Formats: sequence, structure tokens, C-alpha cells
Amino acid sequence: MTDLDLRPRRLRLTPAIRRMVRETTLSPADFIYPLFVRHGTGVRQPISSMPGQYQLSPDTAAALAKEAHGLGIPAVILFGIPDHKDHCGTENYSPDGIVPQAIRAIKDAAPEMVVISDMCFCEYTDHGHCGLLNTPGADHYDPNQPADYLLNDATLDLLAKASTVHAQAGADMIAPSGMMDGMVAAIRTALDRAGQANVSVMSYAVKYASGFYGPFRDAAESPPQFGDRAQYQMDPANVREALKEAALDVAQGADVLMVKPALPYLDVLRAVRDSFNLPTAAYQVSGEYAMLHAAGQNGWIDLRRCALESLTSIKRAGADMILTYFALDAARWLLEG
Ligand code: PBG
Repeated sequence: MTDLDLRPRRLRLTPAIRRMVRETTLSPADFIYPLFVRHGTGVRQPISSMPGQYQLSPDTAAALAKEAHGLGIPAVILFGIPDHKDHCGTENYSPDGIVPQAIRAIKDAAPEMVVISDMCFCEYTDHGHCGLLNTPGADHYDPNQPADYLLNDATLDLLAKASTVHAQAGADMIAPSGMMDGMVAAIRTALDRAGQANVSVMSYAVKYASGFYGPFRDAAESPPQFGDRAQYQMDPANVREALKEAALDVAQGADVLMVKPALPYLDVLRAVRDSFNLPTAAYQVSGEYAMLHAAGQNGWIDLRRCALESLTSIKRAGADMILTYFALDAARWLLEG
């Protein structure tokens, strides 16, 4: 018997030792910065539920993307807010739609920036659902209609069409976020046929029907006008189903998998990371951002410390990249040291 005195605190004694044994380090290269774009010039319209975030026009989005690039952030993801919405989201596949305009402006200003296009119809449809309804013109849920009110396969055709348009405008990646069955295969096939084989697909493979998207729906002006998204987004209670969704997207040719939201779903993120050999992204969503800001503004938490702690936890749980509204601030904080 020896008299072992087990003291893990030895390795926490000084900042230098702590740095030596640190298992997870954040860097600006981990971040993907979401931008909301709308028509106009010089637009920088604050989003009240997301302090520090703005609706931007292509020119101001390009300036911000350039700034992000300067801080070492490799990618932005774009969400479009059209001037005009209709039942089939026409502007999403218009070559001169808001997102293609923003892609071109960003590529002009910061050619090396990876530009990801969020691919969904909820911002473009007047009913606010993520695809075509089988009851065109419906403004409420009609219990006499078939229970499945979204047309899956007809929506795939439109996703394929819009993805091709965004790729032709210069997007590097298409990120389908509508949780339609078969969306990755439909987009991959369309991109290949259009000669866009080098454009990759980052799939929102595992996206939950989450209350944490609330502020985003203000920002993107995209709340469903009736019903909810529970028929296409996942039940927060399920993790085996997450692995099934991810497996289907891998089989359909996804290049990157995403789990969303992030912090409430770290177990899911870890399971996806361990089950598939694809780069894995996590989306720290609008509600996660808004909560940290709200508590910070009240002086109840230290915003910078808690934001960096959340991001570190998301990376520790397996994220290779993090979509976060904190990207610019966190990059600055990390560079300040
Ligand atoms: C579009 C989309 C949403 C988000 C990203 N893409 C909203 C939704 O599904 O309702 C949420 C992002 C966030 O909350 O930050 N389908």
C-alpha cells in the first residue's frame, strides 16, 4: 500500500498549466456567421429580439462578410427576406432574388468567404410553411383536408430548382433546412445535372421542432400562418430518430451534417458525431442567443463568459463547426485573448 495523495487540482494551478491540459479550444475558424438579407441598399435594420443582429441589404451584408473574413471566420450562411411572398415561394428560385444578389455581392467583396445558402421556403411563402401546401391559398388548418398538409415531393422539385439558381449565383454550399424527405438526393441530383458538382450540401439533417427558433421567425419574418412545423421537424424527445435521419442524408450524398438547436441537444450532437464520419455542424439558434443576451442585459450573467462557455461546450460535444450569431463577437473576444 502506498500513500497516494490524488490531487487533480495540480493541473489547474496556473493559467499556463491549464492551457497545456485544455482539451477543447475555440477559434474563429470554427464559426459560420448567419446573415439576414433583404432588398435595398444601405439597410442595417436592427432585429429587436437578437441584439447586435441586423437585416441587411446585399451591400451591407457584403461589408460585414468582409469584416468577418478579416477576423478569420471562414463562412457565412444567408437567409433571404423577399419583398413579395406567394403560395409557392417564387422569389426563392428567381435568379435575381435577394439571396442570389447577396451571394454575388459577398463573392465580389470577399472572394474567399465560403457562402452557404440556407435552402427553405418558409421565408418565401405567404403561409410561412417550408414547402408547398396541398391546399393552395389556405390561411388556416382545415381539418377536412388530408392530415399531411405539406406536399413533400412537389416541394423537392422546387428545392432542386432554387438550389441550382443559388449555386449558379456562386454559392459554395446549399443547406436545406426544411426537413423534407429526400431533400438531399433531390438537391444533389439537380446540382450535378446543372454542372455544379463542386457545390456541396450541408444538410440540416437533424432539426427539431423547437421553441428556440422564436426570435429567428421575427428576424426572417417567417412564422407559419397556421399550424406548426411538427409534421416535418423532429420531436425533441427523440434521439434514435436523429440517427436515422442522419443516415438517410449520408446515403443521399450529404457532405456535412447539422444538428439544430445546439445546447439543448448536445447528446444528439455527440451521437451523430460518433456515428458518422462526416463533418458535423451545430446551430446555436436564435433563442439560445437571445436568452444569453437577455440575462446578460439584466446583469444576471456575464455575457462574454457564458457565450464562450456555450460555444466551447458545443465544440466539446462534437461540433466541427458552429453556426452562431456570436461569430463576430466571439472571434473578437478570442483574438483579444
Ligand atoms: C428555416 C430556418 C429556421 C431556422 C433556420 N432555418 C426557422 C424554422 O425552422 O422555423 C432557425 C434558426 C434560428 O432560430 O436561429 N426553415
